[in-house]
Amino acid sequence: MLKVDNLVTSLHPGSRDQVDIVRSVSFSLEPGQILGVVGESGSGKSMMAYSLIDLLDRKIAITGGSIVFNGEDLSAAKQARMRELRGNRIAMIFQDPMVALNPVLTIGEQMIEAIQAHRRMSRRDAEAHAIKTLARVGIPSPESRMSAYAHEFSGGMRQRVVIAIAFLNEPDLIIADEATTALDVTIQSQILAEIQGLAEETGAAILWITHDLSLLSGFADAVMVMYAGQVIEIAPADRLFGAPRHPYTAALMRAVPVAGRTRLENLEGVPPSLADLPPGCAFAPRCPRAQPRCSQNVPPFEGDTTLGWRCFFPLEETP
Ligand SMILES: Nc1ncnc2c1ncn2[C@@H]1O[C@H](COP(=O)(O)OP(=O)(O)OP(=O)(O)O)[C@@H](O)[C@H]1O
Ligand code: SF4
Ligand SMILES: [Mg+2]
Repeated sequence: MLKVDNLVTSLHPGSRDQVDIVRSVSFSLEPGQILGVVGESGSGKSMMAYSLIDLLDRKIAITGGSIVFNGEDLSAAKQARMRELRGNRIAMIFQDPMVALNPVLTIGEQMIEAIQAHRRMSRRDAEAHAIKTLARVGIPSPESRMSAYAHEFSGGMRQRVVIAIAFLNEPDLIIADEATTALDVTIQSQILAEIQGLAEETGAAILWITHDLSLLSGFADAVMVMYAGQVIEIAPADRLFGAPRHPYTAALMRAVPVAGRTRLENLEGVPPSLADLPPGCAFAPRCPRAQPRCSQNVPPFEGDTTLGWRCFFPLEETP
């Protein structure tokens, strides 16, 4: 359904100041699959996602690789085509629901509009479909809530509305960037369970971006860990949580998420600047397993797009 191959995205492309911020990222997604993307702030998660749907700043552009979505090469798609796909086949969920919602239209009007913009459906059918979808994401009394405005919902309910809108036109792909980060843990886990059910029912594939690896346990089917713009490990979730191979993944697993950020108490230092990367492995300055070789050569990616890591001295397969 989605195949991303050696994607490179750069800041100031073609100039002397070009800095690659997404560095040769490859993965694929099948219908109904949930792929979690995790990494510290600045690791390139959002830029990778925005590259897929052409939401990059003017000074940032894709400079390598390919993105194939349902057989169509998105890296070559025109802006108008991308806009069409975004409202229809691909949906986005951001951290702040107010960005997605129109403050002066009722939730019902927005939902009916979103349906009718892409489907031939009578107003009555669209309304029924909207109510059903609101109920599906856990909005109580959805019929009466149709006439409410965004500001009349709590934060958690508002994000549920945004999720309902994302699923309205049964997209093939949903990209969620820190979609539940602002919500408390109980509400987060309710919403994740609803999303899991909806992905299964509708066959939508989900790219779920978070800085909190623990959130993905029991939710994602596969996990991709990013560091300094690269994929440093990718694996089926059970396998990654059971036996991480990359030392950075192991460090993330012991990290404690605090107030929307991950504090890596067990790990010294910060990720390197992309404009000034260390010569060998990007993680070497912080890695407890680093050997002299790690600062001399860049470790190649071992494996394929479903299971692999980028490390000369990976952890044992069975702990
Ligand atoms: N508009 C921009 N202009 C210049 N550099 C940018 C811009 N947006 C992102 N970057 C740089 O690209 C790199 C990747 O950023 P990105 O936003 O993708 O990280 P992230 O993993 O999503 O982080 P976070 O968890 O904080 O959202 C960072 O080094 C960042 O400074
Ligand atoms: S290549 Fe070396 S420095 Fe990099 S993660 Fe592996 S052990 Fe650590
Ligand atoms: Mg981000």
